[in-house]
Amino acid sequence: MNEETKDRNVMRRLSESARQELIRQGLSSRQRRTTGADTVVLDRAPVLPDIPASHYRFDQHPSYLQLRALQGAVQYAGVESPYFRVHDGIAAARTSIANRHLVNFSSYNYLGFSGDPIISDAAKSAIDTYGTSVSASRLVSGERALHRGLERELACLYDVGDAITFVSGHATNVSVLGYLFGPRDLILHDALSHNSIIQGIRLSGAHRLPFPHNDWKELDHILTTQRHQFERVLIVVEGLYSMDGDIPDLPRFVELKRRHRTFLMVDDAHALGVLGRRGYGIREHFGLAGSDVDIWMGTLSKSLAACGGYIAGDVALIEHLKYLAPGFLYSVGLPPPIAAAALAALRQMQAQPERVAALQARSRYFFEQARRLRLNTGQSTGHSIVPVIVGGSIKATRLSNIMYEQGFNVQPILYPAVPEQTARLRFFLCCLHTEDDIDAALASLGDAFAEVTG
Ligand SMILES: Cc1ncc(COP(=O)(O)O)c(C=O)c1O
Repeated sequence: MNEETKDRNVMRRLSESARQELIRQGLSSRQRRTTGADTVVLDRAPVLPDIPASHYRFDQHPSYLQLRALQGAVQYAGVESPYFRVHDGIAAARTSIANRHLVNFSSYNYLGFSGDPIISDAAKSAIDTYGTSVSASRLVSGERALHRGLERELACLYDVGDAITFVSGHATNVSVLGYLFGPRDLILHDALSHNSIIQGIRLSGAHRLPFPHNDWKELDHILTTQRHQFERVLIVVEGLYSMDGDIPDLPRFVELKRRHRTFLMVDDAHALGVLGRRGYGIREHFGLAGSDVDIWMGTLSKSLAACGGYIAGDVALIEHLKYLAPGFLYSVGLPPPIAAAALAALRQMQAQPERVAALQARSRYFFEQARRLRLNTGQSTGHSIVPVIVGGSIKATRLSNIMYEQGFNVQPILYPAVPEQTARLRFFLCCLHTEDDIDAALASLGDAFAEVTG
């Protein structure tokens, strides 16, 4: 055993205060002999391991340094940061930031239910009845009628056996994928999948293979050559892609999952309230049965004006998750006002299909006008999310800031969320936008382009 290893072993046996004292004095454990717990005797020079600052200081963390470099470049270019602006009140089709009224294209409050008096009253009344928190995991401490009410209605929406809700949409994907799959499995996901899907797959330890965006033919090829090497295989797609605003040809994926005997998961986060005549999501858009997909996932934070995530599927899947998925079992149940808001929004979506129709009409109008102006809307199909791709990150940030000055709140989406040179302004449409809002925003965008390029 060399001197350094001996030193480390002795250091490990010392009490924390003795260890700190040695470090403070710059001594190794061998320079002092311990007589009491904390007494040491000098006999040679210190041997402290050479540990780089980035291993014990957050201000030296490589990702943080990268972030600071990016912020420095933005500042150097004289561009104001568009992040963390403080809204004064409700953010739907309109908002107010620093007392300035803006037309808002930065919130996925698609059906305008966040801030709607019916939804807010439901949340307030749930607080009066149940308080603000359920203060424990539902499994061990019991649930509220609101939880099961919401889950039953979500299951009906997808025409499946049951549903389960989690306190975060992101954590739903992480926990469910992380729990259900393992190292002998393969998960094939669309190359543009949301971060929560990738994190969940990583946690699971399953083999992970992205397939090119929406390319079911390539997926078929991968499955043909690889399926037999794994136990369970899962295909993951989204109902409506949040950066690009396009949708998969879901019936093709259903056919593939049947033929290759895999599971199919659809993250319907942005499709609920948006696709289908009644806003039931991509299932309704394509007229599929609930059982065509094994795992329907969605979030309560978009059309449902709340916060949290859900899984809908057959009874065996949901019961399994209820007793064993860590993100459910070891986490608090949805807060009552949040469950009540989501349930009220779900019911109002069904009671007011005109909101869904208005959202679809406004989205199409925006999309068609943007195309008429020859803006690069990428692969968007004009369903509530329309990106305008502008090129580099600095340019996108400048455009966003000019729009802001002109009374329009639209966020830039920058590298690394999208590849550099495809930085964009992402427009979220809301059923409460008017055609005048859209005309005015696109006219301003034309002016902003002229200012940035001219
Ligand atoms: C496709 C997709 N899945 C999951 C999530 C996570 O949902 P939440 O923001 O509700 O946690 C998002 C967030 O926007 C998303 O776009």
